[in-house]
Amino acid sequence: MVYKVGYFIGSLSSTSINRLLSRALIKLAPDDMEFAEIPIRDLPLYSPDFDADYPASALALKDTIAASDAVLFVTPEYNRSIPGALKNALDWASRPWGQNSLDHVPAAVIGASPGNIGTAVGQQSLRAVLSFCNARQMTAPEAYVKFTPGLISESGEVPDAATATFLASFMQEFHDHTERVLTVLPRG
Ligand SMILES: Cc1cc2nc3c(=O)[nH]c(=O)nc-3n(C[C@H](O)[C@H](O)[C@H](O)COP(=O)(O)O)c2cc1C
Repeated sequence: MVYKVGYFIGSLSSTSINRLLSRALIKLAPDDMEFAEIPIRDLPLYSPDFDADYPASALALKDTIAASDAVLFVTPEYNRSIPGALKNALDWASRPWGQNSLDHVPAAVIGASPGNIGTAVGQQSLRAVLSFCNARQMTAPEAYVKFTPGLISESGEVPDAATATFLASFMQEFHDHTERVLTVLPRG
């Protein structure tokens, strides 16, 4: 079985360190995981007024989640929470009421920051949202990446062996978590 993973990058920055982290994670993941980014940049701001007639970008978001076996969040911390663009995407995914795309989806959370606590507080904020949306989160291991220049190259190479080993083990655990969740909660 190949697991299709949809991944969210919480940053819209053209120089995003979290995008570099996503490249590294994809390279270090087990071979039977396939990855497709779930874009959030072009979503309008969510309003319940759209519930009766979702725009194409939001329908595409929900379709991509539905086609994924699991979702991965790679995100910066903004002001001790998550970036508004990512929260907006989650609000779209969670609605219309009764059509919550995140229900029962295996999920994992990781992030990078130049700061010492490496997105720990932002991840707690994201976990609270995912919890309410009933996603099946991997609770351990946690991964708070303190980013320093050169830690991850543009192409996603990780020169430091200890960091590469840790990120690879995180992805192996996410793989195993996905397998366990899908055993009892098969998708579509
Ligand atoms: C609006 C804003 C808020 C930020 N708040 C935090 C924060 O709460 N904690 C933190 O560690 N870094 C914070 N930062 C710094 C980010 O960690 C840093 O800009 C990082 O590179 C963002 O990730 P990205 O490169 O993937 O966009 C903030 C940056 C911005 C622009």
